[in-house]
Amino acid sequence: MVPPGRRKSGETGSSAREPPEWILAGRAYVRGQLQPVEIAIGPDGRIQSIGRTRAGAPRHDVGDAVILPAATDLHVHFREPGGDPRVESLASGTVEAAYGGVTLVGEMPNTRPAVSDVDRLKEKAARVRGQAAVDVLLYASPADPRALPGLARSAGAFKIYLSPTTGVETPPAPEELPALLATLSKLGLPVSVHAEDPRAFPTRPPAADAREWDAARPVGAELGALEILLPGPLGLRLHLAHVTVAETARRLRAAGLSFEATPHHLLLSHEVAGADPRFKVNPPLRTESERAALWEAFRRGEVPILASDHAPHSLESKSDEFARAPSGMPGVETMLPLLLARVRTGELALPVLLAAACDRPARWFGQPLGRIAPGHRANLIVVDFRARTAVSASRLHAPCGYTAFEGWEAIFPREHYRDGRPIVREGEFVGGRDGETVRPDFADRGRVGSDRI
Ligand code: DOR
Ligand code: ZN
Repeated sequence: MVPPGRRKSGETGSSAREPPEWILAGRAYVRGQLQPVEIAIGPDGRIQSIGRTRAGAPRHDVGDAVILPAATDLHVHFREPGGDPRVESLASGTVEAAYGGVTLVGEMPNTRPAVSDVDRLKEKAARVRGQAAVDVLLYASPADPRALPGLARSAGAFKIYLSPTTGVETPPAPEELPALLATLSKLGLPVSVHAEDPRAFPTRPPAADAREWDAARPVGAELGALEILLPGPLGLRLHLAHVTVAETARRLRAAGLSFEATPHHLLLSHEVAGADPRFKVNPPLRTESERAALWEAFRRGEVPILASDHAPHSLESKSDEFARAPSGMPGVETMLPLLLARVRTGELALPVLLAAACDRPARWFGQPLGRIAPGHRANLIVVDFRARTAVSASRLHAPCGYTAFEGWEAIFPREHYRDGRPIVREGEFVGGRDGETVRPDFADRGRVGSDRI
């Protein structure tokens, strides 16, 4: 159910003058620090004000837990259309997101068929309605130049694959890319790129383990893709998906481009993966020393965005020989909880995590989310840092039934609010199926409250 009087993004209106519907009280991450506050939430589901004491409305005090903004995950594959719902669907994936503290997902277009024209996009948006538990931004594939103007009016972002991967047999030829990027730069939408240049893939026998997979799709292919992408046209909102090494991060920062790293590239290496197909992923897991360097860059706040690249496959296919198994692993439910556990141990500063998981991805998608600030949607989570759990596929909500993070410490949100309404309470999903498709509104960010993270 859409809350009564809820305004669409862009209509910030005068909710601060209406009485708050309720008040969320506790230690919250506001204006760059954890501090005791009372967050007044309006009938439109937006944050009205943040103060010390307010009366006159129902009040929920979270006690020793902390109130944080919910996360945005720029990169998931929920496999509709054409996927097997016993592996993943928009319905199951968005519930996993809710459990993981993710309020908005960017859903990728490498489906069967791919989302490459307006009719397919509309069909996918129709699937979101009535199914999704959180909001969804739909990527489109710019495979057909004639479809681009229509897609630019209805999609949320574009995704380009430079190399073959799941559902992508024939990526655009490298010599076609400058013209494609120039066209996309005029359309205004964010453009995400899977940046592995297949010309740098050596011809090798099938990879028998994760180390050989790393050699088959080497770091050089990622660095090679930068040669194509860094000279990209001005005005292009370019974002590189799943960066695997610190050197790529360094060059992208120097060029001022957006990029993401995944929990698996930050926490796992091909050494720990061995020949276990659950760890097979594109781009591959790298060496332990490359992983450690990427983690250091992340810890220093030099990786702007955290994204899961949630890409489940059937347990059966992931129990096959490494060489035959498909690439990809689930991650939307564990992304934030794994890193909140790193905050608990002191290995990661909370502001660094919140910037990468909440604020910057929401800005990238042009959404009034990701900060606890007046005018933003009250999409919030409540986290008890003492509630440590061990990740277990049997307790996660992904139907695929496996995780590469079995046994890892995680801290799952206790509560999750969407537009001020609970969708997770006491660790259980209590939400509806009222998730909506959203499109970037880069102007709206200027009109909502300007509290800095
Ligand atoms: O490992 C991956 N899996 N990498 C991709 O690029 C695609 C994804 C998938 O869709 O399975
Ligand atoms: Zn992906």
